[in-house]
Amino acid sequence: MIQVLEISKTFHDSKRGTHAAVDRVSFEVQAGEVFGLLGPNGAGKTTTLRLLATLLKPTSGTAVLNGCDVNTAPAQVRGQIGFLSGDMRLYARLTPLEILNFFGELNGMEPQWRAKRINQLMTLLGMHDFAGVRTDKLSTGMKQKTAIARTMLHDPPILILDEPSSGLDVPTARTIESAIMDAKKSGKCIIYSTHVMEEAEYLCDRIGVIDNGRLKTTGTMQQLREATGKHRLREIFLDLLGLPQDK
Ligand SMILES: Nc1ncnc2c1ncn2[C@@H]1O[C@H](COP(=O)(O)OP(=O)(O)O)[C@@H](O)[C@H]1O
Ligand SMILES: [Mg+2]
Repeated sequence: MIQVLEISKTFHDSKRGTHAAVDRVSFEVQAGEVFGLLGPNGAGKTTTLRLLATLLKPTSGTAVLNGCDVNTAPAQVRGQIGFLSGDMRLYARLTPLEILNFFGELNGMEPQWRAKRINQLMTLLGMHDFAGVRTDKLSTGMKQKTAIARTMLHDPPILILDEPSSGLDVPTARTIESAIMDAKKSGKCIIYSTHVMEEAEYLCDRIGVIDNGRLKTTGTMQQLREATGKHRLREIFLDLLGLPQDK
């Protein structure tokens, strides 16, 4: 469903000069699979996901999402994905219900299907209590649930989620994790980034560890254990990054 082929993105800035944020990264994700992109701050997770979402153009390499190439068919790629970014802005003066209806309309969802789908997602994410409250009056977790519902609303085959549970409490993160699990069970292809080890261990079928723009390794937990001789993902992660283990 997703093939990433030697994708690279180079940025130029006055302080660092030319800098490869993503450096020849390749991996695949199947339908019905959750692929977790794990890496420290600045590793290149967001840049990788933005390349897949066609918000950035690769410097070289490419990615093919459900048969559509990010370089040659970006508009078609956008039709295949739901993208959640860390800096997702919601309309402060609208309620979650209004936001979802608005986006559903933009995506050409027929009214009956839209109402049904909104209700389904609100139940899944526990949003009914605040569905009619203006977004600027909502907590971080409520806003994030709204953003997730927006990402999943039009039922795209591919979900690209950049740190969907970052900054959330355990109950809210758990609700979002179960929505991801639900999407996986319905056959969606999901790629998401995190630096929460427990969550990656629990959610991901396969994990890719990225550091300094390079994909260090990809594999199932079992494969990562065998490759590193460590058991917990935290230990595996520190090992792959060449950092000292916990005492
Ligand atoms: N628009 C940009 N201009 C210059 N450098 C950038 C830009 N976006 C990201 N970077 C750099 O690319 C690297 C990877 O960033 P990012 O993908 O945001 O990492 P992560 O999401 O893993 O924390 C960092 O060194 C970051 O400073
Ligand atoms: Mg990031």
